[in-house]
Amino acid sequence: MRKSVIGLVTGGMAVALVLTGCSSDKNSSSSGSSASGSTASVKGKVGVILPDTQSSARWESFDKPLLTKAFATAGVSADIQNALGDKSKMITIAQSMITEGVSVLAIVNLDSTTGSQIQATAKAAGVKTIDYDRLTLGGSADYYVSFDNVKVGELQGQGLVDCLKAKNVTKAKVIELNGSPTDNNATLFAQGYNSVLDPLYASGTLVKAGNQSVPNWDNAQAGTIFEQLLTAAGGKVDGVLAANDGLGNAAITVLKKNHLQVPVTGQDATVQGLQNILAGDQCMTVYKPIADEANALAALSISLLKGETGKTTGTVHDATGNRDVPSVLLTPVAVNIANVSKPVSDGFVKASELCTAAYAAACTKAGIS
Ligand code: BGC
Repeated sequence: MRKSVIGLVTGGMAVALVLTGCSSDKNSSSSGSSASGSTASVKGKVGVILPDTQSSARWESFDKPLLTKAFATAGVSADIQNALGDKSKMITIAQSMITEGVSVLAIVNLDSTTGSQIQATAKAAGVKTIDYDRLTLGGSADYYVSFDNVKVGELQGQGLVDCLKAKNVTKAKVIELNGSPTDNNATLFAQGYNSVLDPLYASGTLVKAGNQSVPNWDNAQAGTIFEQLLTAAGGKVDGVLAANDGLGNAAITVLKKNHLQVPVTGQDATVQGLQNILAGDQCMTVYKPIADEANALAALSISLLKGETGKTTGTVHDATGNRDVPSVLLTPVAVNIANVSKPVSDGFVKASELCTAAYAAACTKAGIS
């Protein structure tokens, strides 16, 4: 313990050495476009801890390579690790990163309790922190980088409603499969989709046939939960609001077993989610251009390394900590069969990964080559 405290202090001193005074940068609009710029003088290392490999394919398939690229382009040394869904492991990784001398630590928390703990330890060592994608409630992050997560939910709710309308289903029975109760984003997604669905439940246009959160976004558990909800709904459902592609795929697997094909939503524009859209098994996904999120994180890290104020798009209120966190919030995009080619034309996913033999014909039809 004592050894790591010494390490912590050393890390803090490293920060002090590179501080070059406060800049006059005002909070201004940034879409997190590029992390590059006058980076020649940037010294110091950044640590990034991703949450797991199970709750979404995004962390290893998109975030890791895009963050690696963003920091490399910016000329900043970065140590990017994954906590593999283990909260104690995240704490241990954070401690060793602080000891190794990172000046900035970015985390995707596994819950706000351990997230705050990590940030308090970092702060005590003079290490700046950034919340990446998930806000740590009651935490002390200097910045928050994410997408507009309420908007993500609104796109999901509206996407489901549009798909149900297209199928002419009246009094459609909807099952909601929410994200992890420990993830503030899951709360925001639900706030977004319920703002669309609740009035329709109230008017009787839709019927809420089931609603449950999936602990830790565990995709396998999501299948069991969905199966139970479907049974409780008498085996009948007309649409599924699934909070991400992994949960959506879990529901689709159960639906197929029951010879049902109904609109299912998702999020992350994963290869699996996009293939489910091509196959007609999934109604939509929410595409979040993660290169922008990674670039925004690199840009804010550089500002912290230089002792400057980073460019933000506004603030996000942390009700637990009762503070406004300077934030960069990016814009999510709804993707359905009509624009399923977008993540490919953007270079987010490769046509070769998406258009495997089983999806080749659907890809051609969707204009993906
Ligand atoms: C992220 C989603 C992801 C989910 C599960 C959320 O906090 O915003 O993109 O699908 O976590 O990892």
